[in-house]
Amino acid sequence: MRNYKIMCHVTYYQRGAGATPDWESIFGEEGKVFTEPHKDMPRIAQIFKERGVKIILDLGCGTGRHLVYLSKLGFRMYGFDASPRALALAQEWLSESGLKADIKLHKMEAPFPYADGFFDAVIAVHVIHHNLVRDILKTIHEVERVLRPWGSIFISVPTDRTPSRGDWDLQMVEKGTYIPHKGKESGVLHHYFTEEEIYSMFDSFDILEMYIDDTGHRCFLGTKKKSCS
Ligand SMILES: C[S@@+](CC[C@H](N)C(=O)[O-])C[C@H]1O[C@@H](n2cnc3c(N)ncnc32)[C@H](O)[C@@H]1O
Repeated sequence: MRNYKIMCHVTYYQRGAGATPDWESIFGEEGKVFTEPHKDMPRIAQIFKERGVKIILDLGCGTGRHLVYLSKLGFRMYGFDASPRALALAQEWLSESGLKADIKLHKMEAPFPYADGFFDAVIAVHVIHHNLVRDILKTIHEVERVLRPWGSIFISVPTDRTPSRGDWDLQMVEKGTYIPHKGKESGVLHHYFTEEEIYSMFDSFDILEMYIDDTGHRCFLGTKKKSCS
């Protein structure tokens, strides 16, 4: 049994060397997947406006629902994602809407291709949990680096209640991180954050709000505490 688990782990790493193959197939089969912005995005956009936010990074922008929505509201949008299919769909959606955004193929665990302090805000909706903890920490470090002093974040992740679901045949690969072997996200890493973990991993941010949204994801809004690292 033990050997079987180690084998699965090795298989994951071998697959993980490429560009998120499972999200590629999900977007290939389902197209956009998300067609409406996150329910709280109008309120978050209003808060961003009140804070003088002009330039936003959509980390793991997927097929572009927030690039399109926030561009329409007048924000200058940048985004990256590890899925070429997602980016092609996002570009199509932007072009059809007569909008422009700077989008790139990039993996969130690698250094972000932007200068220190470039963004006023970073959003990541249902994205940063798709990694091992050590890689999530790299992503958080980069979010902090590319944000200007007192820049804003809005992030959503699944809650630590989710692993109780039986239909995904979850295999634990480290504390709090699982790979489902069934369901449409089969093979995709999921880290289930506890509330305490979020406060500790995001300790260079003041967390202003934390709540569970109507889809069962934990959302948090925060501000970078200090000047650029
Ligand atoms: C649930 S979708 C959310 C997409 C988008 N944020 C939204 O709200 O519509 C998760 C996204 O994370 C992207 N993703 C997964 N692992 C990634 C990685 N290592 N680097 C960058 N993007 C990644 C996937 O390609 C996918 O677009």
